[in-house]
Amino acid sequence: KKFKIAVIPGDGIGNEVTAEGVKVLNTYAEIKGNVEFSYEYFPWGCEYYLKTGKMMDDDGLKTLEAFDAILLGAVGDPSVPDHISLHGLLINIRQGFNQSINLRPIKLLQGAPCPLKDKGPQDIDFTVIRENVEGEYAGVGGFRFPGRPEEVALQTSVFSRKNTEKVMDYAFKLARKRKKFNKVTNVTKSNALNYSMVFWDKIFEEIATNYKDIKTETTHVDAVSMYFIQKPEVYDVLVASNLFGDIITDLGAALQGGLGFAASANLNLEKEYPSMFEPVHGSAPDIKGKQLANPIAMIWTAKMLLDFLLEEDDTEMIIDAITAVLQEEKTLTPDLKGKAKTHEVGDAICGKLKEI
Ligand code: NAI
Ligand code: MG
Repeated sequence: KKFKIAVIPGDGIGNEVTAEGVKVLNTYAEIKGNVEFSYEYFPWGCEYYLKTGKMMDDDGLKTLEAFDAILLGAVGDPSVPDHISLHGLLINIRQGFNQSINLRPIKLLQGAPCPLKDKGPQDIDFTVIRENVEGEYAGVGGFRFPGRPEEVALQTSVFSRKNTEKVMDYAFKLARKRKKFNKVTNVTKSNALNYSMVFWDKIFEEIATNYKDIKTETTHVDAVSMYFIQKPEVYDVLVASNLFGDIITDLGAALQGGLGFAASANLNLEKEYPSMFEPVHGSAPDIKGKQLANPIAMIWTAKMLLDFLLEEDDTEMIIDAITAVLQEEKTLTPDLKGKAKTHEVGDAICGKLKEI
């Protein structure tokens, strides 16, 4: 099987971690022998914006359509306002390719540092499904009377029945597949958001009737944030809106050892367009260019890319390889109190992969 991957390293540490993701994809292909990846690199990002006034080409989506998947590092640089870089590239691709599902596993690996001293890998293992193309990030709003005392900013949320149903349905299907507690937690705030989240809850309950074997619970997002710390072990699959999912998954990332461990997939379930795979972290300008970034989030992301393209393959060997490197405590980046460089961690994980 041959797959064409579009690689957008982006900004900051995006470049450094992407190289390690590609390394792992190639090592996997080498080990398996029956799969092949070809790559095309796109220089889109903040540097591109400073040169051209655009975060990506106008016909960029058309170009990307030809690929089986997109691997993205991170976008953002202090030289460009974040709302321009994020909407110009990342959100443009998510929305333009109707990648409705943002899949974010929160799993503490053996050997990864957890800030909760009384919790271990058996307690922290759940998945957040984040709505990814509309909600609070729909990009709808406006400014009125700028600069005047009457000045007002509007930011409108958009929740369509079709898309909300799709996201909920995916969450229930995933709960069934995971076979943990057969449970979906609906992350809401319908006490305060009396239109959008009331609608969200209604769709959740409607979809739940199609999955009588799956338990449900509905919890407000503020309470979920507290329970992530107090009792993360109760969670299996959570479904959340774009904004809430964004926030609780950074909290989740902290539970699993930090942003250096958080992977994500932006899925177009219909496969009408390519899906995009990216670590949850940003471009980390504070550590860029020094090979200090932890590539594990990106390597885990590469595993999610493999899972999507090669549905029948068991790719747990990648997690096993990461775990082996963690437990050895020899080749770790500074966020894990190690002294190794980004590329050394990538090499070590590929080395373990070849041994498994
Ligand atoms: P960030 O995720 O880039 O960094 C937050 C903190 O975590 C920093 O101290 C950073 O050094 C550390 N960190 C992040 N990833 C790491 C890794 N792999 N290894 C070791 N340490 C890591 O978030 P921040 O600082 O809020 O944003 C920086 C830029 O990234 C901004 O321009 C922002 O808009 C953008 N951003 C982009 C995202 C994306 O491309 N998906 C997501 C979040 C932020
Ligand atoms: Mg985020």
